[in-house]
Order: sequence, then C-alpha cells, then structure tokens
Amino acid sequence: MMSRHGSRIGTALDLGISSGVTTLELLDRLRTAGHDVQLTGTDRSVRARLVTLPFGCRALVEPNGHVLQYEVLGQAVRPWERRLDRWTGMHIVRRLVEGRLREPAIAQAAAGQGTEVALISPRLRHADAFQWLEDDITQRSPAMLGRFDLVRAANLLNLHYFEPDVLRRAIGNAIAYLSGPGAWFLVVRTHGLADHQGTLFRMKENGALTIMDRYGSGSEVEHIVLDMAG
Ligand SMILES: C[S@@+](CC[C@H](N)C(=O)[O-])C[C@H]1O[C@@H](n2cnc3c(N)ncnc32)[C@H](O)[C@@H]1O
Repeated sequence: MMSRHGSRIGTALDLGISSGVTTLELLDRLRTAGHDVQLTGTDRSVRARLVTLPFGCRALVEPNGHVLQYEVLGQAVRPWERRLDRWTGMHIVRRLVEGRLREPAIAQAAAGQGTEVALISPRLRHADAFQWLEDDITQRSPAMLGRFDLVRAANLLNLHYFEPDVLRRAIGNAIAYLSGPGAWFLVVRTHGLADHQGTLFRMKENGALTIMDRYGSGSEVEHIVLDMAG
C-alpha cells in the first residue's frame, strides 16, 4: 500500500516490540518492498524476570509486575485474551493459571528471585539499521517528536493494556511521533493466527489522519485515532 502511493519510508517506529519477532518481520517486509529504512523499536521494558512456580510452571514478569507470559507443561499461556480462545477452551485454562500463579509470580519477581532475561531476540538486536529504546508510550518523549515516516502499534493500543484516558494519551503520543503530511500510522490487533484487525492511517496536509486501508473489520480504536488527530 505504501509503495503503491509512491511513499518512501526512511524512518519507522515500532511500539511495544516485546521480543521483537514481529518487528523483525516488519523490517524484512519494508526492505523487501525497497524501503531503505532505519527502524526504532520501543517497549516500556526490554528486560523481565523468569520465575519458577509450583506444578513445574514458569512465568515471565516485567519489572512493574505485569506478567507477560506463563509456561505450563512447556506450553506458553498468554495472560491476555484472544477471540479464538472461546473456541479452544483456552480462556478456562487462562482463568485457572491466573488464579493460581499470578500472585506467586509477581511476589517472586518483586523479591528479585528467578533470573533476569533480555526480551529482544539476538537476531533483532544485531540487525543493521535497527535500534531499541526503553520508552513508555503513555509519556511523551521529546526526542521522538516528528521523526517517523511510519509508526506501528501492534497488540498495544487497546483497552486490554490501558484505561480509556491513558489510551487516548498514548495514541496522541504515537501520532505526535509521525514526521508530518504523508506519514503512516498502523494500528493492529491479532486475535488468532490469521485474524488481524487493524487500520492503516495517513497524515493529510492539515495534520488530520485519513483511513487508507482496513484489515478485518478495522482497529477497535479507529475512532479515537481519528479524534486525536482531528
Ligand atoms: C502483546 S505485546 C505485543 C508485541 C508485538 N508488538 C506483537 O504484536 O507481537 C505488548 C507489548 O507492549 C509493551 N507495553 C505495554 N505497555 C507499554 C507502554 N506503556 N509503553 C510501551 N510498551 C508497552 C509490553 O511490554 C509488551 O512487550
């Protein structure tokens, strides 16, 4: 879509990158499409504690006590819900896991038990034209203002992570990091392997955003994005 519009992406920002698996995919895709891009990836924390729990389980806990992932019998269990979970029964497993393991996981991490692990994959950390920063999207970062031709927020700007007023602030910050007219903003949420709901916006001359494309039924925060940039 961006190449079709003759757009050149020189700088891109990926928000909330976690281990960076999808960031690496974004970098590969932009390069394959011919963009000579410098990609910055941010996350509020790029380190976490891996703690060992009863019943042979483990959990990965951020410094602020947010559980990123559980491991139960060698299988990953995400603490956040996906629509598909209703069909696979995963929501029942999650409820059980959260009920039994959440508190001990947070307590152990707060006590400094377990081991500290770097979240960003080594492949991404060593990729050319990539840099990462620890940054909280709910706080405005002057160093990132007006710098990026593309900002992507995948599985981040939604009500699972933020209260409504904090979500608005985070969206306002993401928009403020766009480089100006012609820049792109992609907000997407994945509900299942092939179920992507998202919206691709582009900045107009007057600074407002317009919808260029929709994936699935579009982003659930589309109306907030349009409102914040209006
Ligand atoms: C569900 S993961 C998404 C990872 C990746 N973007 C993807 O789609 O696969 C959400 C990430 O957002 C990060 N995050 C949560 N709150 C944040 C905040 N306020 N600022 C920056 N990153 C945040 C979390 O640490 C986590 O790594």
